[in-house]
Amino acid sequence: MKLPRQFFKPLAVGAPAPLRELPVRLERMIHFVPPHIEKLVAKVPQLAREVDVVLGNLEDAIPADAKEAARAGFISFVCATKFGSTGLWTRINALNSPWALEDITQIVAAVGNKIDVVMLPKVDGPWDIHYLDQLLAQLEAKHGVKKPILIHAILETAEGVKNVDAIAVASPRMHGMSLGPADLAASRAMKTTRVGGGHPGYKVIADPADDAPRAAFQQDPWHYTLAKIVDACASAGIKPFYGPFGDFADAAGCEVQFRNAFLLGCAGAWSLHPSQIAIAKKVFSPDQAEVAFARKILAAMPDGTGAVMIDGKMQDDATWKQAKVLVDLARLVAAKDPELGRTYGF
Ligand code: GLV
Ligand code: MG
Repeated sequence: MKLPRQFFKPLAVGAPAPLRELPVRLERMIHFVPPHIEKLVAKVPQLAREVDVVLGNLEDAIPADAKEAARAGFISFVCATKFGSTGLWTRINALNSPWALEDITQIVAAVGNKIDVVMLPKVDGPWDIHYLDQLLAQLEAKHGVKKPILIHAILETAEGVKNVDAIAVASPRMHGMSLGPADLAASRAMKTTRVGGGHPGYKVIADPADDAPRAAFQQDPWHYTLAKIVDACASAGIKPFYGPFGDFADAAGCEVQFRNAFLLGCAGAWSLHPSQIAIAKKVFSPDQAEVAFARKILAAMPDGTGAVMIDGKMQDDATWKQAKVLVDLARLVAAKDPELGRTYGF
């Protein structure tokens, strides 16, 4: 293991110093754009005003014969667009693919000073992060990149889930992690064909009682993995995310799955279809009534210690900390979206 003193040293002479703290940014939805499809690329300037993060997808869902066009399309829309406070990410191809090396080298050379985060798919262990970390440092030094490019891992192999804690602390470049339910299902030999969400066959049923029909309740097959991701990320000071929800027609199913992730600690989710932008915005912006109650707690305990009763409920140092999480997030949302901010009373 690397000595703590070495951990924050740049990995290449001339590379920018690694960050000690993650930049504080609102990342409720990571919106996926396929950069080889001109009709969708034309919408990027408008999207950049609507979403928290624009991501150019180079990996799965991009056909093998369009990989180079997607990379070139990404570089060209990045050069042509002003992103302002909106995050700019790319999902590169997996490290064992023939495209990853050129994805990384060409993108850092062309737009290394604009890109915030590289999303790395199919991360199996810390060794994948170490490789990308070193390569990014060399390229940042070579191309005069001023701020370190961060790494976001997709957790979508059984081996990755087993190594999630080591992945979270593999580098100061780690931004966070997303659940990749489609690849993870395949990697585990789960008997499904879905991208995220529940399954009618994965359930518990009530005990038998005379002739009464037995009530059945679907369970969440992703709860275990998402909870592992949340703990690994929160303990490392990085951000956990739900990944994709593939049934675009099931807005209610998507909302419930995203909300479970939000309540469990996630910062956002992917939007693969424009209809999912509004769902993610609604779910990952805190509820008005919760924020109002949280503000009451903070006001009642100015130094965050002691115990008070509010509306019949006991509050103490721990609920003060929960309230602070909600109010801090509400302030971040308000800074991006003043209209929503007014509903919080800021
Ligand atoms: C995402 O990449 C997934 O495999 O679900
Ligand atoms: Mg995947």
